[in-house]
Amino acid sequence: MERELALEFVRVTEAAALATGRLMGRGDKMAADNAAVVAMRRAFDTVYIDGVVVIGEGEMDEAPMLYIGEKVGAGTPPQVDVAVDPLEGTNLVAKGLPNALSVLAVAPRNGLLHAPDIYMDKIAVGPRAAGHIDLNAPVEENMRRAAAALHKKVEDMVAIILDRPRHEQIIRELRRLGARVKLISDGDVSAALATAIDDTGVDILFGIGGAPEGVLAAAALKCLGGEMQGRLVPEDEEDRVRIRAMGLADPEQLLTMEDLIRDDDVIFSATGITDGDFLQGVRYAGNCATTHSVVMRSTTGTVRFIKATHRLDLKPYYVARSCPISK
Ligand code: FBP
Repeated sequence: MERELALEFVRVTEAAALATGRLMGRGDKMAADNAAVVAMRRAFDTVYIDGVVVIGEGEMDEAPMLYIGEKVGAGTPPQVDVAVDPLEGTNLVAKGLPNALSVLAVAPRNGLLHAPDIYMDKIAVGPRAAGHIDLNAPVEENMRRAAAALHKKVEDMVAIILDRPRHEQIIRELRRLGARVKLISDGDVSAALATAIDDTGVDILFGIGGAPEGVLAAAALKCLGGEMQGRLVPEDEEDRVRIRAMGLADPEQLLTMEDLIRDDDVIFSATGITDGDFLQGVRYAGNCATTHSVVMRSTTGTVRFIKATHRLDLKPYYVARSCPISK
């Protein structure tokens, strides 16, 4: 993929963040999600790709836009797989809590795992601990191996995990080991990225979250040189059938980075919606708004943080039409 596309993809996540950021703290996660989806869908029309959504807002009959299989982009080459989460952290925006992001990942056609909207068990680390984790191993072994790779004591490690009853055992084990634990209410894409970005103070992610979020986080970690492993968590036979239909013979196989991201060429973009560990949220002032994004390419490993000032009066296309609720 041409490197110029990276900037085009930032424009797409910026558009979604600008639209939904207005709805921070209003307690309406559906409206916030809708604003982000509409803005992102519209912004894709301006990008010169022949894209197919493989990770999106759900199946065709569930979502009006950005559904799995929908074509996005201007329809010109390159042919690409597109994974999107226009608003990752609907509750976070509804409550004004940190780390809500607008995210996307793009790879050449068939370059991304086509994951259904079910849960995935995950473990993730940044570049220095990559190659030292194993989802099949106990928490203690992963903590000891990652700590050794990071030249830290286990007690100095920070493990991040969604605060859910299903994680009670992992959390108890982390506490028994003396590790520092960061419980989050939502947003495990941001959490996975935090393991690979300096100064976040986060070393390792554990736990079960959304499978689509897992693929998006793996795309970012591929660019950052980190590692994620996953395992889909089908709830019934229907889920297993869906997984097999998406190309995985064993629905519960261990998914390595190569299984999650199948092409060496991937671009990932995220724009902050609310303030977070590594991205500032959207700020509005009169006719202006600022956004803070990160865009990365796996082929070169370049990671760019982009702070942009937007003249909203000159962008009625993105702001007024795509976010009617914010008028
Ligand atoms: P949404 O933006 O779809 O609300 O997802 C937020 C999120 O916290 C994800 O980051 C995470 O993967 C998933 O939900 C966890 O699901 P659950 O809330 O069911 O535990």
